Amino acid sequence: MEQITIALAKGRPAKSTIDLLEKTGEHFVDLHEDSRKLVFYNTDQSIKVIFVKALDVPTYVEKGAADIGIVGKDNIMESQADVYELLDLKIGKCKFSVAGRPEHPTKGNQKLTIATKYPNVAKKHFQKKGQTIETVKLNGSVELAPIIGLSDYIVDIVETGSTLKENGLVVLEDIENISTRLIVNKASFATKANEVQTFINQLKSAME
Ligand code: PRP
Repeated sequence: MEQITIALAKGRPAKSTIDLLEKTGEHFVDLHEDSRKLVFYNTDQSIKVIFVKALDVPTYVEKGAADIGIVGKDNIMESQADVYELLDLKIGKCKFSVAGRPEHPTKGNQKLTIATKYPNVAKKHFQKKGQTIETVKLNGSVELAPIIGLSDYIVDIVETGSTLKENGLVVLEDIENISTRLIVNKASFATKANEVQTFINQLKSAME
């Protein structure tokens, strides 16, 4: 068996992903969500886990630096990486939505300004509707933008809805359901077929 490398997303869903990994029966020395270490191995070193920034997970997998990635659908969509998405882990559930002030501005055919951490997702969504937009790329606290007039709307992930509510914003349209997914590098899917399939089966059993 060849060693496989799995890229895990740091951040919010890391704990539930690590809990699921431990349920596969594989033990990874020192692996916990607050660790400053970035590389971990299971006991027989057949699996290497690397800890990377969520939006970078699809890049590591597309480029073959990792065979498998475990990351939110939001980051897969934004990265536009050419990878296979093979399993929905059904954790980290939320959705992509368009949100704004309840009395949202109607601008006729004018260009809309959308503030977002996910410009590619926003562009694709509005393009499908035939609406021209300009995106303002922000790195957090996106909900501020329509309040202070930086944008007309936002495209962002909504989990409990409390950030929107606390800031007087409402969901205007849902775009896509998000959850943590397993992605696979296209070449590894062929060259490490057994290893990849074995790991997927382990995860599926852990999910039951
Ligand atoms: C995310 C997202 C929303 C919020 C949604 O931000 O961008 O702001 O969570 O969650 P809710 O519906 O449960 O309120 P995050 O907490 O990652 O922080 P950020 O604004 O710094 O990106």
